[in-house]
Amino acid sequence: MAGVFITFEGGDGSGKTTQIRLLQKWLSDNGHTVVVTREPGGTDLGNELRDIILHSTGFIAPRAEALLYAADRSHHIHTLVRPALERGDVVVQDRYFDSSVAYQGAGRVLDATEVRELSLWATERLMPHLTILLDVPADVAKARQLGDERRFDRLEAEAQDFHERVRESYLALAEAEPDRFLVLDGTVSVESIHEAITTRVSDVVG
Ligand code: TYD
Repeated sequence: MAGVFITFEGGDGSGKTTQIRLLQKWLSDNGHTVVVTREPGGTDLGNELRDIILHSTGFIAPRAEALLYAADRSHHIHTLVRPALERGDVVVQDRYFDSSVAYQGAGRVLDATEVRELSLWATERLMPHLTILLDVPADVAKARQLGDERRFDRLEAEAQDFHERVRESYLALAEAEPDRFLVLDGTVSVESIHEAITTRVSDVVG
């Protein structure tokens, strides 16, 4: 495939949105055609699923939750991401299957390998060229979100130990695939994180 697929991962409140916006501008300024998208969401069906997954008030069984994320992912990759990569675009995506491994695996305590395999089946094994993990301690992330005054969604409202498990899982995933992951300390300045990201991305986009 001609394009480049870059994913961002990290806990809620890790600063992904800010860094994605800065990277999008940097890539466009450097002459690349960029598609910015996110999971859950990114398509019409995805946004409907996003609403169910994040704002449904009743209990959702852990495996059902994993399947809903996988359904969103499958449709998103098939209809939006693969076509963009085939055109040769750079796709910058907020969350991908590592989110499922961390949140549904470590968070909800499902088997990590099964969750990963489910996502890879759903996407016909599309792997990112680069995954940027913004690592922030759960208490720092929580404090940032409280300043935000938004209503917490179903996942964000989970207890501190849930978010600690998610963080540990992300770090273990990065350690297992050091070539794919760039792990950055998400507590340092926005500018220095952006600089570290563009240094690495310039190698990947050529
Ligand atoms: P996100 O869009 O990053 O939230 P926000 O825009 O509010 O920061 O992600 C929504 C939530 O869904 C987030 O808490 C993480 C969770 N999530 C999973 O549990 N599994 C997944 O596979 C994905 C993609 C997200």
